[in-house]
Amino acid sequence: MRVAVIGAGIVGLACAEELVRCGHDVRVFDPDPGGGATRAAAGMLAPAGEAWHGETDLLRLGVASARLWPEYAARLQAASGVDIDLRTAGTLLVGQDHDDLQQMRRTLEVLATQGIAFQELDRREARAHEPTLSRVAGATLLPEDHNVNPRLVAEALLCLLGDRVVRARATVLDGGVAFADGTEFGCDAVVVATGAEARSLVPQVRPVRGETIRLRGADRPSRVLRARVHGEPVYVVPRAGGEVVVGATEEEHASEPVATLGAVVRLLHAARTLVPGLESADVVEITARHRPGTPDNGPLLGVTDRPGAVPQLLAVGHYRGGVLLAPLTAQVIRAHVEDGEIPAVARPFAPSRFGPHQICTPADHRKDAMS
Ligand code: GLY
Repeated sequence: MRVAVIGAGIVGLACAEELVRCGHDVRVFDPDPGGGATRAAAGMLAPAGEAWHGETDLLRLGVASARLWPEYAARLQAASGVDIDLRTAGTLLVGQDHDDLQQMRRTLEVLATQGIAFQELDRREARAHEPTLSRVAGATLLPEDHNVNPRLVAEALLCLLGDRVVRARATVLDGGVAFADGTEFGCDAVVVATGAEARSLVPQVRPVRGETIRLRGADRPSRVLRARVHGEPVYVVPRAGGEVVVGATEEEHASEPVATLGAVVRLLHAARTLVPGLESADVVEITARHRPGTPDNGPLLGVTDRPGAVPQLLAVGHYRGGVLLAPLTAQVIRAHVEDGEIPAVARPFAPSRFGPHQICTPADHRKDAMS
C-alpha cells in the first residue's frame, strides 16, 4: 500500500516506521519533524501513574503499550544505532503532605481494581528508596512505570525513515494529500497524526498546554518522581547526561503555546520543595507545547466514516500518553491499513465512539462557509 502519514511527532513516526517495516510504501509530511509535543514530552511510560477513575479502558491500553516498550526500544536502538535512554527503575508516586497522599491513594484504588503492582512506602522507606526527597508524607513505588527520552526516540525513528520524511505541510484530500503549492500526493490510505493541530480536521481534539523545564546538574533523583506538592502536580524525570525534566502543567488554552511566568514558577517551586538538591541546578530550557486532549482523554485510533475517500485513519488525541501509546498505536494503524485484526484493547478507541463525521477537511470548511 502507498500510505501518506501527516505529522512527524512520535506517533506519526512510529506509525510510518511500522508500515515501512511491514513492506508498505510510506511518506511522512511535516514542516518540523519532531518539533511538536514530542519536543516537550518528558517520556514517562506511565500507565499506572496516570491512572484515574472512569478511565480503565485507557489504563488497559496504556499497560498493553507499556509492555511493548522494552522490545520496541531494543529494536529501534539496534536498527538505528541511537540509544533512546530507556530507564526501567520504576516511578515513585509521592505525596508531599497528607492531603497529597490522600489524592495519591485515589490512584492506588484504581490500580488495585486492575491488579496493577504497587508498593506503598512510609516516609522513612520513601527516603531510603530516594534519598534526594525532602520530608514527604509518603510514597508508592510503581515498578512498571518507566521512561525514555522522546527526542532520542524521534531521532531514531527519523534515522530509520530517512528521506521518506518530507519537510512540508500537507492537507487531507479525498484521494490523498495536497501541498501549499497545489501539488498532490495520491495514495491508498492517509494517516492523520498531527497531535493538537488535528483540531482543524477532527473536532473532538482540543489543545491543552503543558510546560516542561530542563535542568542540569545538582542533586538529581535516581528514578522518576511523580508528585503532588501541597496540591501542585509535578514530575521530576532524570535523564542521561545529568539532565532533569520537570513538568506537569495543564492549561486549557488555544492560542500559540508559550510558557507563562506563573506556570514556570509553580513548577520550579514544587520541584525544589520535593527535591531540595535541585536548588543549584542550571535551568537549560523551558518548552511549552499543546497536548492533544479529547472529551474522554483517550486517543482516536482507526478509520473515519468519510465516504468515497481513500481510507482516512486517525492516530490523534493521545493527550498525556503520546510517548507511551506510540508502539501500540503503530500496530493498530498497521492492522487497519492491512485489514488485519485490531487488538481488542484498542477497540474502545475507535473514532466512531464520538458519532459520525469524525473528520472535517478544509474543503468541508469552505463548503460550510459558502452555504
Ligand atoms: N504525560 C505527561 C504529561 O502529559 O504531562
